[in-house]
Amino acid sequence: MKIVSTVNEVREQVKAWKKEGLSVGLVPTMGYLHEGHASLMKKATEQCDKVVVSIFVNPMQFGPNEDLDSYPRDLDKDAALCESIGVNLIFHPEAEEMYSPQFCSYVDMNVLTEDLCGKSRPVHFRGVCTVCNKLFNIVQPNKAFFGQKDAQQLAIIKRMVEDLNMDLEIVGCPIIREEDGLAKSSRNTYLNEEERKAALVLSQSIFLGQKMAEDGETDAKKIIAAMTEKIETEPMARIDYVKVVDGLTMQPIDVIDRPIVTAIAVYINEKARLIDNFHYSPEMQ
Ligand code: PAJ
Repeated sequence: MKIVSTVNEVREQVKAWKKEGLSVGLVPTMGYLHEGHASLMKKATEQCDKVVVSIFVNPMQFGPNEDLDSYPRDLDKDAALCESIGVNLIFHPEAEEMYSPQFCSYVDMNVLTEDLCGKSRPVHFRGVCTVCNKLFNIVQPNKAFFGQKDAQQLAIIKRMVEDLNMDLEIVGCPIIREEDGLAKSSRNTYLNEEERKAALVLSQSIFLGQKMAEDGETDAKKIIAAMTEKIETEPMARIDYVKVVDGLTMQPIDVIDRPIVTAIAVYINEKARLIDNFHYSPEMQ
């Protein structure tokens, strides 16, 4: 496995693979890799001949008061995990390699970015779309792998690829959880033991809402109310949002009559803002 930090090195390697007729998979990440990332990398190795993992804490997707500086980093540990899974190349650029001082081009989107995380993180998805577009152009993968953990991000990336005729397939992968239910996240490391316990209220409310939907509840307001009530039992939790949205447009809906995502964002002790969600489709029943 190679670790490279320049766009040219990636291009050269990918060109050589493509010349041999090999398919290339890309897993974009911000590092501090855990089993959630590992599941994406494993799927990529199953579906593609060669796998590139990008590790880049993208400054453009962080707002001024967000956790860019404190975001956890551990390249050695990340590299060991990638190697053990059979990743072929890690792309680990410095910010200057991705954004020259003259940089002024962006990929932006409305509708899908307006609600959920887009509300409290107004510049976030412009940063995500722009960096993913750059990574797709640099690596030119046949497939790129994204987690359902970031449901809005996955929907946005799929939309961007379709709207802008990008020549790759986006593969969505299920949420990987800790044994007790907490969705794996690099940001879980911000929590001490007590806060980690408090954070369980996220997955508990997700499982509660999911069961209500599966039991036939079609009134989104009732599901939101029950989930909100559950989260509010935890004194360390402060709700950013609890919403039921259309699975494609990410716009809030009142009646569950089509595929939906129910998504939540919750601050734990003002230290970490964690997200979780479930998908539900009436047709699945
Ligand atoms: P990051 O938070 O590092 O996540 C990288 C990928 O791993 C995303 O597609 C995310 O959905 C997936 N992932 C994270 N936790 C997961 C879990 N518990 N189960 C399944 N998949 C999980 O998302 C980003 O980085 C950035 O926004 C990025 C797309 C790299 C652009 O900078």
